[in-house]
Amino acid sequence: MEQKHLGHKDTVNLGSYYTPPWLVDRVYSLLGKNVPDWDDYYILDTSCGYGGFLRGPKTIGADIDEQAVETAKQMRSRGVYFNHNSLFGISRSQYNLDKNEKIIIVGNPPYNDTTSIIRNDIKKTASLRDADVISRDVGISFLLSYDKLTADFVCVLHPLSYLIKKTNFEALGQFKSNYTLIDSVVVSSGVFSATSKLTSFPIIIALYERNLFGMNYAYIQNYTFETNDNKPFSIKEYDTIGNYIPKYPNHKMTSKHDAIAYFYTMRDINALKRAATFLEKETRAAMRVTKPKLSYYCYVDVFKDYIPHMPYYFGNSDIMINNAYFRELESLFVSRSARKHPKLAPYVEAGTYNDEEAALTKYFKALLGVHYVD
Ligand SMILES: C[S@@+](CC[C@H](N)C(=O)[O-])C[C@H]1O[C@@H](n2cnc3c(N)ncnc32)[C@H](O)[C@@H]1O
Repeated sequence: MEQKHLGHKDTVNLGSYYTPPWLVDRVYSLLGKNVPDWDDYYILDTSCGYGGFLRGPKTIGADIDEQAVETAKQMRSRGVYFNHNSLFGISRSQYNLDKNEKIIIVGNPPYNDTTSIIRNDIKKTASLRDADVISRDVGISFLLSYDKLTADFVCVLHPLSYLIKKTNFEALGQFKSNYTLIDSVVVSSGVFSATSKLTSFPIIIALYERNLFGMNYAYIQNYTFETNDNKPFSIKEYDTIGNYIPKYPNHKMTSKHDAIAYFYTMRDINALKRAATFLEKETRAAMRVTKPKLSYYCYVDVFKDYIPHMPYYFGNSDIMINNAYFRELESLFVSRSARKHPKLAPYVEAGTYNDEEAALTKYFKALLGVHYVD
C-alpha cells in the first residue's frame, strides 16, 4: 500500500504519506466499538490515495491525484471514485449523495503548513479552496470540509496539535461547534515509514460524532487521551511555563533596559528540541529576560537537556513545570544553566548541591510520572 508513483516534491505537496494497514484497522476498531452498524453508512474518504481506508459495502473514494485514483480502482473496483480537489466546491451533490444519506468519513487527510510547501504546479490547483475552509494548515481545511458535508461520523488521523494547541483548536471553527471527540488513540508520526523519524510528533486517530453540542477547549483539556501502548494522559494534569513567563517576544511589555539576557521563542517541546535557548543578541524572535524571571528561563534551558526523557506524545505540548518543586531546586537550575551560558554568571549564587544530576532526574521523574522515558 505504500505510495510509489510520486517524486519527492509531489509527495510533500500532496502530503502523500500513505497509511500502514494496521492503522486503518485501528480506525475500524474504533468504528466497530462505537458505531456497530457502520456498514449501513456510506464510507467516504475524500483523500483516498490507493483507497486503503475503503471498506464495507458502500464506499466512495476521491483524490486530486489522478494516478492514485486509477490505482485505487484497480485494487478495489467495488465502490465509486472521483478524481477531484476535495476542498473546492464541497457539497454532498459532488458525490451524488442527498442530505438524508448517512455518511462516515474516514482517512488520513494531508497535513502540512500551506505556507511551507515546495512550490510547483500541483500546488496551484491544490491550493484552490472554498472560502469557508481556508486555513493555514491543509489538514484543518479537510476537517472543515467534513462539516460542510455534514458527515454523521468522522474517523480520521490528524496531528494531535489540532486539538491541544489552542490557536489550532480555534481554527477548527464550525467543525468544533458541530462535532464531539468520542473516542481516540494516539500514535507516533514515526509509524509512517517515509516521514522524518528524527522528531516524531503525536498523531491522533480520532472518532468524532456530529451533534448539537460540539466541543470547546475545556472539553479537550479535560479529555483523557490514550496512546497506542495504553498510556492515558490529559493536558489539564500539567502546569506550563506560559503561566510564569511569556513564550513569545515581549518587547511591548518589557523595556530593553530591564533585559539581562535574551531567549529564543518557545513554541512547544519539539521546537525547543531544535531551537536555541539563551541568545547572544536581541533578535525579532527573542524574548527579553528580566532578572526576577531569570530562573524560569534557566528552567527551560535545563528542560531542553531532558527532552530525550519526554515521550513523543508530548512533542507538541507546552513546556511543563511543577512550580512548587521547581522553586525548591531553583538555584540548581540556574547554576547548571549558567555553566552553559557564562554571561549569566553574575546572576548566580554559589550552589550547594553535590549531586545535581540525581536531583534533576528526580525532578523530571516526578514531573512526568509514568510518562518519563528511561
Ligand atoms: C496522507 S495521503 C492519504 C492517502 C490514503 N488515504 C492513505 O492513507 O493511504 C493524503 C492524500 O490526499 C490527497 N490530496 C491532497 N490534497 C488533496 C485535495 N485538495 N483534494 C483531494 N485529495 C487531496 C493526496 O493526493 C494523497 O493521496
